[in-house]
Amino acid sequence: MFPIIMAGGAGSRLWPLSRPMYPKQFLPLADEQYSMLQQTLARLEGLSYQPPLLICNEEHRFIAAEQLRLMEAQHGGILLEPCGRNTAPAIALGALRATADGDDPVLLVLAADHYIGDVGAFQQAVKCGQDAAEAGYLVTFGIRPTHPETGYGYVQAGEGNRDQGYAPVAAFVEKPDRATAEHYLDQGGYFWNSGMFMFRASRYLEELAKSRPDILDACRRSMAHVDQDLDFLRIDAAAFEACPSESVDYAVMEHTESAVVVPLEAEWSDVGSWSAVWDVNEKDAQGNVSHGDVALHEARDCLAYSQSRLVSLVGLENVMVIETKDAVLVAHRDRAQEVKQLVASLKAQG
Ligand code: GDD
Ligand code: MG
Repeated sequence: MFPIIMAGGAGSRLWPLSRPMYPKQFLPLADEQYSMLQQTLARLEGLSYQPPLLICNEEHRFIAAEQLRLMEAQHGGILLEPCGRNTAPAIALGALRATADGDDPVLLVLAADHYIGDVGAFQQAVKCGQDAAEAGYLVTFGIRPTHPETGYGYVQAGEGNRDQGYAPVAAFVEKPDRATAEHYLDQGGYFWNSGMFMFRASRYLEELAKSRPDILDACRRSMAHVDQDLDFLRIDAAAFEACPSESVDYAVMEHTESAVVVPLEAEWSDVGSWSAVWDVNEKDAQGNVSHGDVALHEARDCLAYSQSRLVSLVGLENVMVIETKDAVLVAHRDRAQEVKQLVASLKAQG
């Protein structure tokens, strides 16, 4: 099994901590010490796997390398994208790298920014996924939905033999609208797509060749010459810039007829907003989450995140204070999604 860790996303709702130069996967958001990327690596411990390949943007190479070094994690290199082209090309680069020497391993494709509450359940799901991937299926890990979220993909489990721990996928719908998501929850039988996948490298490339040959061609051209500079693997920049941008969900998972879903029975979050950060972290007796140098008096259900100064809260409820060197965010916990609009208007003002 060959893990591929995708770490090229942006995370704009976690401003002011998550910035283009230092996005969320490199931040310790679900842990006091380790970043989400480091937790992704740690979650593999105990499984049997080849050294993982990290795929991220050229701009983040030193952050990524330093975080791997601090983990003393064995890895199979850091493949650098000169620009973001979303996850379908990123996985194609990984699959091409994995098959370059004539091997055809099962890839475990992981997002670098997930919280998973139960590592044992995750590892059990991966073992089950490995069997399905070896049998030629494209595996998604399904999370039981709790609300009609429109930012996720939905997987409908089909009828069929579930004895092996996985079910055929009857339908895969990426980011449906609100009414459709509500309908899926009412109807039942749907999972959220966790955004982690398993398949043989060759099976992914075959499916991509069917649905998006243009993406596969561009990725093949990008991988025609790979320059290795210490741990960094550089591809042909012009060829990759010419690659269409698309997610694996739209490019492959919505089209393939070989998908199966392995339920992942664990608390899971993609930690997409500050309220999600509050959700996944340990709370004190009053329901507060603190990170860094924080002093609280009569605060309840608050989030206080300090990067460089002492942050103190008195007599507040459901308030989030995020302190960084050059910006402070104070927001109601119920309005966390709107940070995205705030960031957009800040950008527009220059
Ligand atoms: N290397 C690389 N290059 N990684 C990328 C790129 C890229 O261009 N774009 C995104 N990633 C990484 C992100 O860092 C993240 O770890 C992962 O790929 C998923 O990308 P997101 O951009 O966060 O996807 P999403 O959240 O909109 O949707 C996906 O995840 C959901 C669950 O969190 C989909 O798979 C949904 O179906 C799924 O429900
Ligand atoms: Mg995401």
